[in-house]
Amino acid sequence: MTIIAPSILAADFARLGEETRAIAEAGADWIHLDVMDGHFVPNISFGPAVVKALRSSTDKVFDVHLMIAPADPYLAAFAEAGADAITVHAEAGPHIHRSLQTIRGLGKRAGVALNPGTPASAIAPLLDMVDLVLVMTVNPGFGGQSFIGSALETVSRVKAMTAGRAIDISVDGGITPETAGPAAQAGATILVAGSAAFRGGPEQYERNVAAIREAADAATGRDGVRC
Ligand code: DX5
Ligand code: ZN
Repeated sequence: MTIIAPSILAADFARLGEETRAIAEAGADWIHLDVMDGHFVPNISFGPAVVKALRSSTDKVFDVHLMIAPADPYLAAFAEAGADAITVHAEAGPHIHRSLQTIRGLGKRAGVALNPGTPASAIAPLLDMVDLVLVMTVNPGFGGQSFIGSALETVSRVKAMTAGRAIDISVDGGITPETAGPAAQAGATILVAGSAAFRGGPEQYERNVAAIREAADAATGRDGVRC
């Protein structure tokens, strides 16, 4: 089963607790939390205090995506705030291996993220250190951007490199019912969706999440139908 992970970056920030609860109850598997520092990426979102404040809204996996540099000084704070998985960008500093070691040492799932311009080969030395590889299909920093289809080649390469290992492949950026299928077919086991999950307000959330899930299942034949 593909894991659907709505990004609360696209939620109503004035009502983040209610939004997190609503998307969880609408069928989200994980909650994706995008942390931006205005330095590694050209936007600022929220930090560990907000993650901590949201923790009581749901018991779903909190999938924290750090778009910050440096990341290491903040890993413990995000773990204490309630993150279950913590993903750091390969491009965010010279010591990605140390970051992953630290995350594992905190007892959390360790993830490495790749920007669209970074080759899959960047993860080769990290395979024993990661639980999750996140492939960006937009340039990080903003929700609502168009899917970069060429990044699916990176997903396929990551799939081949991680074959036989318990490593999830997450695809993040521009995921809609149209792009979910190709992403899942290329090897994504986790689909992150911001705009497409939260569009239309709370009464649409269940339909939005289901549409992404159905597209992924249809493309992979997981529901018995192969496209
Ligand atoms: C982008 C973030 C994504 C983003 C996805 O920097 O990492 O998680 O929120 O949003 P959509 O689905 O709108 O592209
Ligand atoms: Zn993200």
